[in-house]
Amino acid sequence: MTDPNYTTKDNGAPVASDEFSRTVGSDGPTVLHDHYLVEKLAQFNRERVPERVVHAKGGGAFGTMTITEDVSEFTRAALFQPGAQTPLLLRFSSVAGELGSPDTWRDVRGFALKFYTSEGNYDLVGNNTPIFFIRDGIKFPDFIRSQKRLPHTHLRDADMQWDFWTLSPESAHQVTYLMGDRGLPTSWRHVNGYGSHTFQWINAAGETFWVKYHFHSQQGVHNITAEQAQQIVGEDTDYYLRDLYDAIERGEYPKWDVAVQIMTNEEAKTYRFNPFDLTKIWPHKDFPLRKIGEFELNRNPVNYFAEIEQAAFAPSNFVPGIDASPDKMLLARIFSYADAHRYRIGTNYNELPVNRPHAEVHSYAKEGAMRHFYSGGERPVYAPNSLGGPRADAVRAGEGGWQNDGDLVRTAYTLRAEDDDFGQAGTLVREVFDDEQKARFVETLVGQYESLTRPEVKERFLWYWGQVDQATADKVRAQVEANASADSPGAPYSKAPEAEPVNA
Ligand code: HEM
Repeated sequence: MTDPNYTTKDNGAPVASDEFSRTVGSDGPTVLHDHYLVEKLAQFNRERVPERVVHAKGGGAFGTMTITEDVSEFTRAALFQPGAQTPLLLRFSSVAGELGSPDTWRDVRGFALKFYTSEGNYDLVGNNTPIFFIRDGIKFPDFIRSQKRLPHTHLRDADMQWDFWTLSPESAHQVTYLMGDRGLPTSWRHVNGYGSHTFQWINAAGETFWVKYHFHSQQGVHNITAEQAQQIVGEDTDYYLRDLYDAIERGEYPKWDVAVQIMTNEEAKTYRFNPFDLTKIWPHKDFPLRKIGEFELNRNPVNYFAEIEQAAFAPSNFVPGIDASPDKMLLARIFSYADAHRYRIGTNYNELPVNRPHAEVHSYAKEGAMRHFYSGGERPVYAPNSLGGPRADAVRAGEGGWQNDGDLVRTAYTLRAEDDDFGQAGTLVREVFDDEQKARFVETLVGQYESLTRPEVKERFLWYWGQVDQATADKVRAQVEANASADSPGAPYSKAPEAEPVNA
């Protein structure tokens, strides 16, 4: 055994110095056969894996979910049976910024859960909003590019963001959330989480139901103002990360209620709008929330890189009793994430401790870079086989499904009576925001408008908000006109001319 007080090379052998390279004389050149120096520099060059293409900045913690109610009539999933206690990892994130970006930039927050269930890992990769910007996965790369940076200046660009949003009116509901108070949470502990999509639950008899997940913060939903957020950006870019870590170290374990909404197949067929459209919520008066348990976060990661950066959440990680729905966004995501992990972490990312299921793995997958988990040489490497290898079991797999028929097409969802882009966004503004929230919302939109430069985008911006809520659009127009006339030369209180840019 080597003594832990002494440094070793990665081959386990002791090193001669942590401070001095091997050189020809004290002042001479460094020699290539200083293999410790070479190993140290080479390893350092490879310390980073590519950051997530979205949701790069984040943090998380481990905990446990406890189910207190009986929903076994709707799902046979082990983690949702009464009394079940399931270990979990929750990673929070912001969407658009890079790995070092400030936590308090206005953004949607990711809320990604990995449940280490007795029947395999179940991942629920949601957000702090119950809806999303688009309803077809084919638009996702375009949406994200519009949020990221311009190719020539490498700057983020308001024109590009609002051009995309206003040309994609299905974004209105989510953008209303984002421009409202919830775009700037007080901390990760103070956000709700949502599975957002509609998922399928399957009970022991094989009957299927549609379900939406809600995770309500027991700390309450609290938000900060734009001024506070801006100030924090300048003082502490890791504000949320620090808050979560410190709270858990202090023993203040944050908790969330776990609740679901359930819809039957018959209700789904005739509901007034498409229940699989990710831009819509299911009104609680039609589908009441049922609280089924709670979870708590009570352990910080021991190593951020190993347990958070290398954590791989995938909407394709289902377990018996839970399956997908015909939501086109969910179906696109089911392909996308495992592909991202193979690129970002490597083929055998599921072998890493943070991703490894707590259930035993009997997969026929083999080999690939960095594989270290393998079974004995006697075990067959193909199926079917007559050598006693593991067999598929449709009953244990507990998959669901749904009926579909039709020509192969590229179209929007079939429209129902109340399928529209702006209705629920308008309700959010008029019936959920109070007067102070409405005032802050208008102020935020005025700031957004004033960051635009392209006249056609400005005009479409006002049209878009007019579709959501005419009173809001009128207030925004009046305020930007007032600001513009106050700024124009000759106006009674015009500002002093700006100083010439130094490089002009
Ligand atoms: C992360 C793709 C829609 C929530 C990611 C990643 C990809 C991706 C490639 C990075 C994965 C990684 O490298 O580990 C997509 C595509 C979408 C989509 C193609 C649409 C078709 C959504 C929606 C939600 C969401 C609708 C929420 C309801 C998240 C979260 C993460 C993430 C929370 C971060 C997961 C983590 O903490 O590691 N997405 N996404 N995404 N996405 Fe999506």
